[in-house]
Parts: sequence; C-alpha cells; structure tokens
Amino acid sequence: DNYCVILAGGKGRRLWPCSRDNKPKQFLDFFGLGRTQLQATYDRFAKIVPGANILVCTNRDYEPMVREQLPDLPASNVIVEPINRNTAPCVGWAVAEVCRRSPEASIIVTPSDQLVLNEGAFAADVERGLNFVASHDTMLSMGVRPSRPEPGYGYIQLGEQCETEGVFTVRSFTEKPEREFAKVFMESGEFYWNTGLFLSSARNFYREFTRLFSDVHRGEPADGLRPAEETLAFVTEHYQSYPNLSIDCAVLERSTDICVMKCDFGWADLGTWHSIYECMRKDADDNVVIDSDVMMEDCRGNVVKMPKGKLAVINGLDGYIVADGGDVLLICKKGDSSALVRKYVNKVQMEH
Ligand code: GDD
Ligand code: MG
Repeated sequence: DNYCVILAGGKGRRLWPCSRDNKPKQFLDFFGLGRTQLQATYDRFAKIVPGANILVCTNRDYEPMVREQLPDLPASNVIVEPINRNTAPCVGWAVAEVCRRSPEASIIVTPSDQLVLNEGAFAADVERGLNFVASHDTMLSMGVRPSRPEPGYGYIQLGEQCETEGVFTVRSFTEKPEREFAKVFMESGEFYWNTGLFLSSARNFYREFTRLFSDVHRGEPADGLRPAEETLAFVTEHYQSYPNLSIDCAVLERSTDICVMKCDFGWADLGTWHSIYECMRKDADDNVVIDSDVMMEDCRGNVVKMPKGKLAVINGLDGYIVADGGDVLLICKKGDSSALVRKYVNKVQMEH
C-alpha cells in the first residue's frame, strides 16, 4: 500500500514573470503539452499508486486551482497550508495523515516542478525505491548524476554501497552550496544531485520527523493517530509558529539515517530559466524557444517564452532570457539570471 505526496505550494518566483504568485509554475502548461506541471506529476504517479493514495500539499490560495486541475483527487487528499512555511511542515502533516490511514504504507514525496524524459525508467526506479524502504528503516533519496556545477540543487555525497544494487549510504547532504563548492562536488565524482524525490516507510518518516522536526507532531500520541479533524484544527492553529524550513534542510540534511539510490530516468528541473535552457532541446543556433511564436535572426543561446498570440521578432541577440508574462516583459542576460530575477520580482511586487 503506497502513497504519494505531491508538493505544490511553491511560488515559483525564479521563473518570473511567466510564473506569478497568483499562478505559479506548477499550475501552468509551460511547454504547451496540454497538461500543467501539477497534472503531469499527478499522471506520472497515478500509474504507480492508486489515485486515492495521492495527497497534494498546497497553500490556501492555490487550493481552488489544485481542485480544478485534479478533479479526480478526493477532497480529503488536499492538505491546505494556511500560510507559507516551506515544505518541512506540510510533509510532516502529510506523513501523519498517511500514518492515520495506513500505518504500514510507504510514501514517496515529489516536487511538482520536474520533467521526466524516460517515464518507463522512472516507474522502475520508483518501484525499486518503494521495495527498498518497505524492508529498510531509512529514508531514501533519489539521486541523479550532476551534469553541471549548479548551485541551486542539493548535493548528496555517496558513502558505502549497500547490499541493494545502486543504493548507497549518504556521507553528507548539502542543500544549495556556493558555486565554488558545487564545482568541487561535481568534479570529485562523489556527489549526486538531490532530485527532491524521496521515500520512506510511513512509520520511519514519522519517527524521523518527531526526532528532527517535531513542531507539527507536538502533542500527538506516540503513534500519531489522533483523529484527522483534531490534527487539522491543531496544525491550522499553530502553522504560523512553525519554522519556515524546507524538508531538505529540516530532515535530509540533519538525518544520519538516509540512503541514496542512483537513478537515471532523464531528470530535469524546471526551477529557473537557466535550468530550463540547459535541459531543453536547442535549435541550430542554440536557442530555446518555449511554446512561442518567434522570428529570430542572427541570435544565439537565448531562451524565449512568449504568451499565446504574441509574436516576438528578435535580431542579433546573444545569451539572453526573453520572458513575457503578459503585463511584464523580462529581458535579462542569461548568465547569473537567478539572482537578478529574484531582485526584480521583489522590487516590482513592492512598487506595483
Ligand atoms: N506545499 C508546499 N508548501 N509546497 C511547496 C512550498 C510550500 O510552502 N514551497 C515549495 N513547495 C514545492 C514547490 O512547488 C516544488 O514543487 C517543491 O516544493 C520544491 O520546492 P522548490 O522551491 O522548487 O525547491 P528547490 O528547487 O529550490 O530545491 C529542491 O529541489 C531541487 C531539485 O529540483 C531541493 O529538494 C533540492 O535539494 C533539489 O536539488
Ligand atoms: Mg524546484
């Protein structure tokens, strides 16, 4: 009996101005494929676990979008955060919910901002991971070999090989290192990227949470099986007081009992313009055009995203992001764009 917890409450600000606070990237059909990122994530896991076992964690503001985009999702499978506190509190809450429904279950937690190129290999890796956590009392992170010194990811240092093929102990976990460290990590060959996908038996998750990040479970009986309505009332009332921490920093970075599985299913993260540029197919001049009408001449190494029905005519542009969010147009050098995007999104939101 396996469960999937989809994280869908982020603001996706690094893809501003196409991803907006009132409609972040997971609710967009960014590539014009006919399904939003959230729907694509749901579809991927609905093939692996029963639909009734998929939980979605999101912010109160996004709850209507989740329900609209996933009409088959049972009403009680949406975990609604009253305010933003990053992913540690909501994963803890979801883990308690799974323990209540099915204490023997295993859980896979997934972000909703990723692209999987090889769905078959993905399903096989998830299956392998679920089997592993069903018989081992550890958390298991799905790792992929890094292809560039990207500072925006978590880095997992592989330790000893476990008796299960492709599974290693974790020597260290570093979330979002400085660029120089990311470079050293990558060159050493000892590190894998954290995909943000991780698994554990519900029981073990619960135990790790109460040990490392106890806020959500404060006052609960040892087995965490207080009635759902009581948990809802308690957590909603106290949510504001929970630390704003990602699951990566709150649990993965602190835990000593965690393994990593080497995966290779064509993973790509859709977090930043830069990561999208890196993972998408380029045209003959190394441009990436995302579901947009564009006339380009003498242009190289750009990434362009336009709204439906708007044509971009670009001449002689090298290495830029051109991202039109309808009422905001961003034109920015591709190099260190993430920091710049962050700066402007804050500035624009304060002034407009
Ligand atoms: N429910 C909920 N509530 N979800 C959230 C919240 C929140 O407050 N904040 C973020 N999320 C969701 C996002 O929508 C996304 O699907 C997922 O959680 C991860 O959040 P990101 O903000 O995209 O994290 P990241 O990309 O910086 O880093 C994570 O992913 C990397 C790989 O893509 C980490 O896990 C890194 O270690 C990892 O390498
Ligand atoms: Mg992300």
